[in-house]
Amino acid sequence: MNLSTKYLGLDLKNPIIPSAGPLAKEIDNVKLMEDAGAAAVVLWSLFEEQIEHEEFELHHHTTVYSDSYAEATTYFPEAVEYKLGPDAYLEYIKKLKETISIPVIASINGKSQGGWIDYAKQIQEAGADALELNIYRLATDLAKTGTDIDKEYIDIVKAVRAAVQIPIAVKLGPFFSSTAWIADQLDKAGANGLVMFNRFYQPDIDLENLEVVPNVLLSTPMAMRLPLRWIAILYGRINADLSATSGIYSEKDVLKMIMAGAKTTQMLSSLLKYGINHIAEVLTKMKYWMEVNEYESLDQMRGSMSYKNVADPAQFERANYMKILSSYK
Ligand SMILES: Cc1cc2nc3c(=O)[nH]c(=O)nc-3n(C[C@H](O)[C@H](O)[C@H](O)COP(=O)(O)O)c2cc1C
Repeated sequence: MNLSTKYLGLDLKNPIIPSAGPLAKEIDNVKLMEDAGAAAVVLWSLFEEQIEHEEFELHHHTTVYSDSYAEATTYFPEAVEYKLGPDAYLEYIKKLKETISIPVIASINGKSQGGWIDYAKQIQEAGADALELNIYRLATDLAKTGTDIDKEYIDIVKAVRAAVQIPIAVKLGPFFSSTAWIADQLDKAGANGLVMFNRFYQPDIDLENLEVVPNVLLSTPMAMRLPLRWIAILYGRINADLSATSGIYSEKDVLKMIMAGAKTTQMLSSLLKYGINHIAEVLTKMKYWMEVNEYESLDQMRGSMSYKNVADPAQFERANYMKILSSYK
């Protein structure tokens, strides 16, 4: 049974990667991930703001409307809340590389071009095998067009591409006028992989205290439907490897993503909920399913459920949508 996959030029023993988040902040957790069978690990993101202003003050998200200016550093948590700043992040990469043998994918969360891009070079020098760029940008400016925003994404990728030789994956959100176009442009700008999709955190309002509540909710399996569709649409049409993130809980979720066309599947909520050893369980069940269904490798199934052979995916989607609406009883 061959579960191996190639992602960002890295030979991985299987497609499961714990995605960026707090679990990887402890070396012991990363060791547990490796022991459970994880093929690589993505570190939590260091933010552009952290790199550019090493020290900033805490001002809670709840006061988000009270002190507004364009680059309000007061919105951000204290450096201490992030636990590890830029220097410690580099040290951590070095230490991890000495401790584990699976590839380490560092992560930067940026929104614009800036001095922070040089930091990507330091991440490379620290030994990271690849870099995931999480471009987290909520377009709230009435004067900015979609074209302006798209250009910012493309320019960031070009700038990071020019700064480093290690592979780059771009983690992007699903909200573009043309997801297919931007995926193609990011590929052409030098992204070796696309991680689909970033989840924008969605705050709630506390009615009693009249506060904006910045809570993070774990995803549910339903969240995988959006990347599942887009990976199926893009498979075979761009060069960048596709990595799925959001709502991947079970072996069946992983298999569906591979059949849609993913090279790798990233998991976080399921690991936070069931523990790191959940990876081992998913891998065992995956092998069993493949044996029963007579698949010998992931390559054999990859893209089998994609839109590759659909001449006009948009028309196909419309026809399906019409069918679905009329079939509801
Ligand atoms: C507590 C928490 C922290 C996260 N931190 C990061 C981060 O630092 N960088 C990043 O790119 N994504 C981060 N994410 C997003 C996850 O990597 C992942 O893409 C998202 O949760 C969807 O996958 P899931 O459904 O498996 O959780 C975080 C998610 C959670 C729940």
